[in-house]
Amino acid sequence: MTKQAIPNGVSLIQAPKHNRQQSLKDAVAEGFKRTPKSTPALFFYDTAGSQLFEQICKLPEYYPTRTEHKILTDKASDIVSIATGEVELVELGSGNSAKTRILIDAILANQPHLHYIPTDISTDFLLESSIALKNEYAPLSVTAIAAEHNDALQLLPEGGSQSRLFLFLGSNIGNSEPEEAVSFIGQIRRRMRSEDCLLIGFDLVKDRQVLFDAYNDKAGITAEFNKNLLVRINRELGGDFEVNRFDHHAPFVEAHSRIEMRLISRCDQTVYLERLGQSFGFEDGEYLHTENSYKYTLAGFESLCEAAGMKMQKYWLDEHGWFAVGLFHRASGG
Ligand code: AVJ
Repeated sequence: MTKQAIPNGVSLIQAPKHNRQQSLKDAVAEGFKRTPKSTPALFFYDTAGSQLFEQICKLPEYYPTRTEHKILTDKASDIVSIATGEVELVELGSGNSAKTRILIDAILANQPHLHYIPTDISTDFLLESSIALKNEYAPLSVTAIAAEHNDALQLLPEGGSQSRLFLFLGSNIGNSEPEEAVSFIGQIRRRMRSEDCLLIGFDLVKDRQVLFDAYNDKAGITAEFNKNLLVRINRELGGDFEVNRFDHHAPFVEAHSRIEMRLISRCDQTVYLERLGQSFGFEDGEYLHTENSYKYTLAGFESLCEAAGMKMQKYWLDEHGWFAVGLFHRASGG
């Protein structure tokens, strides 16, 4: 494990090379064999992709960020009051930590110092936001973990006398298929003690037009975000994707209660990936499946978490009932 010291009370933990996430190369080699061809959503987040996602969060159509933000703003003191005594904050997939500031403020109203442990897959992005945060909040110490969620949980330092509030916000859980989500929440549970809490932000089933528009915005930012994956494949795997020969399309698929992000081939074409030494054909109309974004009912999400041994203690909704923030403890037994 490399732990480099970065100035200003921020330290960085990186996953050792051998147990880092599946490489883009392996993911593409495997995913392009499937029907439909698919890639895991986490590969969106190179530096350009993380920046595009930040822009998505500000789109008028993209309600999740703003709605969750509002819930957290309104309920922050209520939320942090459920934690016992002084807390440490562990955030899985922190992005730019914008929403976390609300909780940090609420926690620092109750205690003099706070240890904040953000994890994110984009090292540059994680470091930059960790340093920005430390500069804003003197009473903060930051241990940033640059790793994919599962690795980050393995790299999490042992807890001390304080209880922990784990955060998994932004409907990031929605990227996982239900079985994966159960197993991931179970992984988090394994790192929790009985006094620890887990706060999850999850997106709810709603009006289909509202759902559709959120992933097919007028400005085309989501399309650019989606197509950036092809740009990344070209750069990192020596690909010759002609990005303009693909169209972004993100329908809500009722049978799975999820938005599917797709890139539809506009013609019959062949793409060569030098680092794989392999060509792949795309037929006219064929699509590459790049992401799932699951939308839940409250009851459905509660039972998913129960399957992972977690009990929902309390939840908060926005005024439209579009988004939910749930607070979970380890269920007794198990
Ligand atoms: C970061 C996974 C929550 O599913 O809404 C946004 C990603 N994809 N627009 C989501 C995303 C297209 C986002 N999550």
